[in-house]
Amino acid sequence: MYVCVCAAVTERQLCESSAASADGDFRELCRQLGVAQQCGRCAAAARAIIGPDRQTTCARSPASD
Ligand code: FES
Repeated sequence: MYVCVCAAVTERQLCESSAASADGDFRELCRQLGVAQQCGRCAAAARAIIGPDRQTTCARSPASD
């Protein structure tokens, strides 16, 4: 599922980048992926997935992407 339409970034890409990041800094991950850098509508969803107070888990099946 696309989280950021402007940058065409999926939930899976966010999770993979977060897992590969040494410090998992939310703002830096967003900057690197281009998430929340244009219209900003995806910021809350991205924060819920990879932010410091994430509300979802990245352990999803490939079918949920
Ligand atoms: S949907 Fe992510 S910046 Fe527009």
